[in-house]
Amino acid sequence: MERRISITDLKAMKKRGERIAMITAYDCPGGRLVEEAGVPLILVGDTLGMVVLGYDTTIPVTMEEMLHHVKAVVRGTRKAHVVADLPFMSYQASPQEALRNAGRMLKEGGAQSVKLEGGRRMAETVGLITSSGIPVMGHLGLTPQSVNQFGGYKVQGKTPAAAVRLLNDALALEQAGAYAIVLETIPAPVAQAITERVSVPTIGIGAGPHCDGQVQVFHDMLGLFEEFVPRHAKRYALVGQTIKDAVAQYVAEVKAGDFPTERESFYAAPASGAVGDPSLGELARSG
Ligand code: KIV
Repeated sequence: MERRISITDLKAMKKRGERIAMITAYDCPGGRLVEEAGVPLILVGDTLGMVVLGYDTTIPVTMEEMLHHVKAVVRGTRKAHVVADLPFMSYQASPQEALRNAGRMLKEGGAQSVKLEGGRRMAETVGLITSSGIPVMGHLGLTPQSVNQFGGYKVQGKTPAAAVRLLNDALALEQAGAYAIVLETIPAPVAQAITERVSVPTIGIGAGPHCDGQVQVFHDMLGLFEEFVPRHAKRYALVGQTIKDAVAQYVAEVKAGDFPTERESFYAAPASGAVGDPSLGELARSG
């Protein structure tokens, strides 16, 4: 039986200097497609709220919404390591509540690990979750669940003092047992310094080229989310436009009576056994 990528595999990739490509996915076909394209690490991110569910931020996303989508991605994959993002207020109130919710992501969702945002203030929580057998990925820098605290989606770690705070947060997460750390929207040299000082893989998004891996949001990189393109996103395809073109062609064909054709139509078998006479008389005989 094929086994899923483990946190040991991911740490070994850092040791070998093998870069890790992580992508978000939110449903069964999305998970299947990215796995078939060779992605070892899939994040069911709470970006779900913005790119799939239509919220303005990730703040409203609930545990039930996350679980619904984590299960779908797990059903669509066999080999990839699936990380379930813990949504806002599912882990901040107490380490015990965080542990219970992390457990749900594995027990009910079928994920292999969880991700949460925050550094030193989350160290106790990360320690409790990992010591209970649940791998944790950390997330530092522009942590979107704190958008109201930051006053917008701004680059973090720009001053020397802020960069040192980020480094200390990364070291605290590693010490607490995190197996990897996402670094979001921070200066590339700061991400490089952190990457060189921690033994666990760093996964960058808007954090420059020196991280051990990169993560992109499925809808951003494929042109499926058209409201705006974050500066850290690269569009590898314009799938949204492809969908609109295809659907517009369908609409035009329906209007013109060009769809369906014989190819997409069915007829009852006539008494003679010959198929294909669409006349009502034939249908009546065969019925
Ligand atoms: O929710 C998410 O998709 C994320 C990535 C942007 C890292 O946290």
